Formats: sequence, C-alpha cells, structure tokens
Amino acid sequence: MKTALVTGASRGLGEALVDALVARGVRVAGVARDAVALERIRARHGAAFVPIAADVGEPGAAARVAGAALGALGSLDLLVHNASTLGPVPLRPLLEVGEDDLLDVLRTNLVGPHALTLRLVGAMALRGAGTVVGISSDAAVEHYPGWGVYGASKAAQDHLFGTLAAEQPDLRFITADPGEMDTTMHAAAIPEADPATLRRPADVARALLDHLDVAGSGRAALEVA
Ligand SMILES: NC(=O)c1ccc[n+]([C@@H]2O[C@H](COP(=O)([O-])OP(=O)(O)OC[C@H]3O[C@@H](n4cnc5c(N)ncnc54)[C@H](OP(=O)(O)O)[C@@H]3O)[C@@H](O)[C@H]2O)c1
Repeated sequence: MKTALVTGASRGLGEALVDALVARGVRVAGVARDAVALERIRARHGAAFVPIAADVGEPGAAARVAGAALGALGSLDLLVHNASTLGPVPLRPLLEVGEDDLLDVLRTNLVGPHALTLRLVGAMALRGAGTVVGISSDAAVEHYPGWGVYGASKAAQDHLFGTLAAEQPDLRFITADPGEMDTTMHAAAIPEADPATLRRPADVARALLDHLDVAGSGRAALEVA
C-alpha cells in the first residue's frame, strides 16, 4: 500500500491512522475542517502528508477532495471514511432530535462519504485493486438510548459497504468497529467515562492496519492488545 486518503484526520483515530500509515511508508492525504490542526500534522510529516481542509458533509466537497487527493497522490490504494459526528450533544432520545439534526448527521456520516467513494472507486476498479474502510460502531447494531441518529448513520454506512462488496469483488470494502477510544468524540458522548478504561487511538490504528494486511471485505471488530 503506497497511498491513502483518511477523513477526520485532524485528531483522534484519524490523526493516529495518519501517523501509523506514514510510519509504514504510505503517503497520506488527510481531510478535516480544522486547517490549523492539519498544518500541525504536515509540520510533523512533511511531504508524506497532504492536508485537505474540507467539510465532508458539504455538497460539492467530494469532488474537491477527490480532485485534491488524486492530484497530490496520483492514485489511491486506501480510502478511510473516519470523519463522523454524533449529532446534538448531550445525546438525547430520538423524539427530541429534529429532522434537521438527522439530516446533518446523515450528510456528514453517510451521504458525503458515499459521494467521495463514488468519485474514487472508479479508478480503483480500473486498476482492479483498492480498499475502502468505513469506521463503524457497535451503535450500528445495538439500540442504545440516545444514540439512535448516529447509530442509524453507521448502520446505513455498513449496509452500503456490504452491497458495494457484493457488487465489486475485485475491491475490498471493510467496516471496522474501533471500540471505545479516548477521544474528543467519546468525551462529548460520555463525559463521565474514565479515560484510563478506553482504548488509545494509536493502538486502534495499529490494529486496523494489521487487519488490512490480511483481511478481505467484511466487518471487523478490532482486537487491541
Ligand atoms: N471514540 C470512540 O469511542 C468511538 C467508538 C466507536 C466508533 N467511533 C468512530 O471512530 C471514528 C473516529 O472518531 P474519534 O473518536 O476519533 O472522533 P474525534 O476525536 O471527534 O475526531 C473526529 C474527526 O472527524 C473530523 N470531522 C468531524 N466532522 C467532520 C466534517 N463534517 N468534515 C470533515 N471532518 C470532520 C474531525 O475534524 P474537524 O473537527 O477538524 O473537522 C476529527 O478529525 C468516527 O467514525 C467515530 O464514529 C469512535
């Protein structure tokens, strides 16, 4: 694997994935809204990291991001959809979440990422190789009170990935549940959690890349030592 595009690269699991990929000799383009944080990562990695400041949920972002990534990297071996939003926090019952909030979550977690996939898998299919990863959650399969909108977006993502895998047997479509990690998102969702009980993003990133070395299409529950 020589090139990768990671969304949600400015912090948390996405930043850890950038670090782990660069350490393995991969050139990485990273997407997030926080351009300052992306510049900080570029200062660490130099030419191995290409910052792309964009909101993945914005209409038109997919074309811009795909163009910038392919322009900088030439071709893409790996696309990781990691950027994600919980929706309104504190998390609340579905009956208290309006349809505008639902649409915002779906734009960021589902529609924008799918638009980006559509713009990048054609070239992968022509080459007959490529891996697309969707970072998922156990909230995609469990029904935790308060997590309904976020969980629905992850369940829908996973369904699209399963169908893409069935339709494109030459490519890999992998969804991965990273488990509970010590990140900004987790602190926003469950502020009372003890960070010491949570996985470190760097450990999860390593486990995911090890999994990619051996896995075919499908859903991964990552084991972190
Ligand atoms: N933390 C957990 O316990 C946990 C558990 C299960 C699954 N997950 C999943 O793991 C993935 C990583 O989560 P995390 O915990 O690392 O979250 P995080 O620390 O909050 O990081 C989220 C990343 O996504 C980016 N992002 C959010 N909205 C964006 C948008 N509209 N456009 C572009 N980038 C956007 C953020 O950057 P900007 O703000 O700069 O845009 C940030 O880089 C997510 O898919 C999450 O659903 C996390």
